Amino acid sequence: MIKKVVIPVAGRGTRLLPTSKEQPKEMLPIFYHSPTNQLTLKPMVQCIFEQLYEIGLREFCFITGSHKQSIEKHFTPDYKELDLLESKGTVVAKDLKQFYEKIEKSSLVYVNQDEPLGYGHAVYLSKSFVGEDKFLLHAGDTMALSKEDNHLKDCLESNADGMLMTKYVEDPQNYGVVTGKKMERFLKVESAVEKPKDPISNLAIMAINTFNNSIFDALSRVKPGVGNEIQLTDGIQIMINENKNVLASELPKSSLLIDIGTPEKFFDAQKKTYEFFRNENNKTE
Ligand code: UTP
Repeated sequence: MIKKVVIPVAGRGTRLLPTSKEQPKEMLPIFYHSPTNQLTLKPMVQCIFEQLYEIGLREFCFITGSHKQSIEKHFTPDYKELDLLESKGTVVAKDLKQFYEKIEKSSLVYVNQDEPLGYGHAVYLSKSFVGEDKFLLHAGDTMALSKEDNHLKDCLESNADGMLMTKYVEDPQNYGVVTGKKMERFLKVESAVEKPKDPISNLAIMAINTFNNSIFDALSRVKPGVGNEIQLTDGIQIMINENKNVLASELPKSSLLIDIGTPEKFFDAQKKTYEFFRNENNKTE
């Protein structure tokens, strides 16, 4: 069973400027589960942490940057404030308490990416945290919601060198895209291209993947690609060239993809999570 998670949160977030000038985009809120059964807004990166905690993951490595210190601060329990809230009977204190308990039961490591040289570069920096283990790689600005979070099952149970969560999209030129041969429920990936001008397929790599440590050897040889950045997708193509077993699993149709990387997607994320959790609360009332 995979225990380690790497969450890169060091990107510039240019598409959300000026909001992301001082405020990391990963700290922007979406609606999420709450023990109080009230509609609750939580920072995206907290929702990701809580979701992965709930499925048993406990070792987290955030790839962060100097302009992202509020993320580390957010993951630092403040018991004085909690005591104050509890003494006043503030409902949301229950939420904070549970969040702090999850933090205390986990190991959180922060690795600095001095300059955002690309998603692949950020991932490479987790090499010593990962060691010989397999790990889950999860972006800090995207997540999926599904019943009992079962969309994560394929990734966590896979024995492949790389297991990519993918989704059919209408605009593949904005994503890393894969093609391959169908093998039972999965696709054996034969080609991975970052933001193709002439898309090879509509199957886009989502930001939820598992790898063994062969990804690091591949990434160490990746040259700057699209946007002059070190791209994870180019590392995946190197793995494929070297006959590593890279599979793709399609995100279940019933699950919701929540992405906050652009103004439109952020708005859509608000709508989707509001509906999802409003209904959840209605059911539990
Ligand atoms: P994106 O490529 O969507 O984010 O990265 P970005 O570069 O921050 O956004 P734009 O393109 O400038 O608007 C997906 C995830 O990877 C992290 C981001 O913080 C985000 O959580 N990332 C990206 C890094 O940690 N380092 C990087 O060099 C690039």
